[in-house]
Amino acid sequence: MQTIVLATQKGGSGKTTLAIGLALAAMQAGHTVRLIETDPQGTLSNWQRRRSHAEPAVEPVYSASEIEHRLMALEESGVTLTIIDTAGGVSAATTVAIRYADFCLIPARPSVADIEATASALNVIKAWKKPFAFILNQTPIRGQRLESAATALGDEATLDTAGILAQPFIVMRNDHQDAMNAGLAVNEYAPESKSADEIGRLWQWIDARLNVQTIMDAPLLVSTLPATPDALATIPVAVSAEVAAYAL
Ligand SMILES: Nc1ncnc2c1ncn2[C@@H]1O[C@H](COP(=O)(O)OP(=O)(O)O)[C@@H](O)[C@H]1O
Ligand SMILES: [Mg+2]
Repeated sequence: MQTIVLATQKGGSGKTTLAIGLALAAMQAGHTVRLIETDPQGTLSNWQRRRSHAEPAVEPVYSASEIEHRLMALEESGVTLTIIDTAGGVSAATTVAIRYADFCLIPARPSVADIEATASALNVIKAWKKPFAFILNQTPIRGQRLESAATALGDEATLDTAGILAQPFIVMRNDHQDAMNAGLAVNEYAPESKSADEIGRLWQWIDARLNVQTIMDAPLLVSTLPATPDALATIPVAVSAEVAAYAL
């Protein structure tokens, strides 16, 4: 089983929305998916109550001490992917979730406040030496400045190698909110939409990194990897600055 954690201090950056979209995209790709909700606000549980489909099941786990046990049980039950949606702030549950993550995702709107708010989660991610990526969410459609942000980031050879800015950026569109209201993922609510296409491609981008992580776990292949988690851990502050420089 692989475990993905979405974490950042800032509320409203898209942790829950992206957790739902990625869960559905992974299911469509053949995964057996569970969503764990550590946020007592219960946005994810409320979303599931509005759904008519049982899958993906949402498990509220608000106590940090229960997370390891739940993950072990899910693995034994045949779940292949668990996505953990965390609360804003960095709670004990978030810290433990990151501890057990195979990959961490840090959503941020293209605003200075959101970028700055990634720091605390990033510190925990670095402490556990976890692979991670930023997801720029709720970006504008027209986006000369974001285009140039992408170009500038792409010019950085180290960042290219490390690949820690997820692609594509997720544009701000009503589909995401309407889907959430309807108890659906955007890829169910509007399967032919640009929003669904972006989430599908985002899943593919993440899936490729998860596969690299699986290779990392195999000792014989480690030397073939372009970047180690240690190398990644040296980069995030620079990336935050780069992204912040282009924040709207
Ligand atoms: N790409 C997007 N476009 C439009 N609205 C979005 C997008 N991503 C998230 N939202 C909306 O922003 C709000 C906050 O998102 P949410 O996923 O609940 O954030 P978090 O879990 O980080 O607090 C919700 O109303 C959600 O529907
Ligand atoms: Mg949330």
